[in-house]
Amino acid sequence: MNNINRTIKVSTPSNIAFVKYWGKKPVQYPLNPSVSMTLKNCVCEMDISYQSVENGSFINNFLFNDQKNEKFLKRLEKYLNSLKEICPYLENLSFSIKTNMTFPHSAGIASSAAAFGALGYALANIEREIDLISLEEVNQRASFLARLGSGSAARSIEGPYCIWGDHHQIKSHDDYALKFTNIHSSFKDVKDVILIIDQNEKSISSSEGHQLMNDHIFKETRIHQANQNFIDIISSMRSGDWEQFGGILENEALTLHAMMMTSQPSYMLLKPNSLQVIQKIQQFREENALPIYYTIDAGPNIHIIYPKNYENDAENFIKTELSEYCENGRYIIDHCGTGACLTD
Ligand code: DP6
Repeated sequence: MNNINRTIKVSTPSNIAFVKYWGKKPVQYPLNPSVSMTLKNCVCEMDISYQSVENGSFINNFLFNDQKNEKFLKRLEKYLNSLKEICPYLENLSFSIKTNMTFPHSAGIASSAAAFGALGYALANIEREIDLISLEEVNQRASFLARLGSGSAARSIEGPYCIWGDHHQIKSHDDYALKFTNIHSSFKDVKDVILIIDQNEKSISSSEGHQLMNDHIFKETRIHQANQNFIDIISSMRSGDWEQFGGILENEALTLHAMMMTSQPSYMLLKPNSLQVIQKIQQFREENALPIYYTIDAGPNIHIIYPKNYENDAENFIKTELSEYCENGRYIIDHCGTGACLTD
């Protein structure tokens, strides 16, 4: 590579899992397949300048939301080092990286999915620029590279929905996520309102969390359940069966927390207000016969999922009855998006 000196700008969203990835096999393969919705507004904007050098010094400059961030820089360096074998060209490049998250850290939205999604997408585009891959191969390669940084990041490249992880009945892969196609029209525009129950969200680190599954007493049962939920949620999203979809969505959220509560050591990440909100949502749904369901990540905040057609009823309910359970009344309104893109 001779005298390269370029900048690439990407924007990559976070995603919220409907069927959860929880537990992994080496190297960053999921124990079970997962399904997710790609977000629209909660994105990582990343500018990467790269120059050819004799021996790659990797990251010369790194800014995260306009500030130095040693912890994240270390994780990025470790990631790039781990890629040296599959991306030998890295030996001859050095990088300056500027990263900006459009959503707050404490929001219960995975920033690592957006950040590693952005890096994977940027690297795949660099590979295209230096003629290692074709344009058609970019997304698959980006998802593959993103996965090696953070498993769920594999699902941030395409949208509005992705599937990731081998399943014997569906064409999906452990290596990278795929865009999930042939969805029912009622799933074309879906909203996700994230209620900030606790800003000092104390979620366990993902590596700790996934490790809990290694010796979990319910490990095999969980894998079996996730495989079944995977196939059933796909079928409900194809047929437009919101009742079946919502049942699986909430079952997955509660199972994730049940796995954490019953692991050794155990974790209780839900707060009293998380439970209050869950009950309110169930009650509101029953009384009004509306397709409004929840999911939860590895933290106390609650994601409310519903078709855009119902946004008036749902957002009125959230404002008048749920915002009081949020810290400082805060919640974030987002909806499904189309995934990563170049911004320059
Ligand atoms: C609960 O992708 O953050 O959000 O692969 O170790 O980076 P690593 O884990 P990560 O795990 C996400 C777990 C989850 C469920 C999900 O997004 O599927």
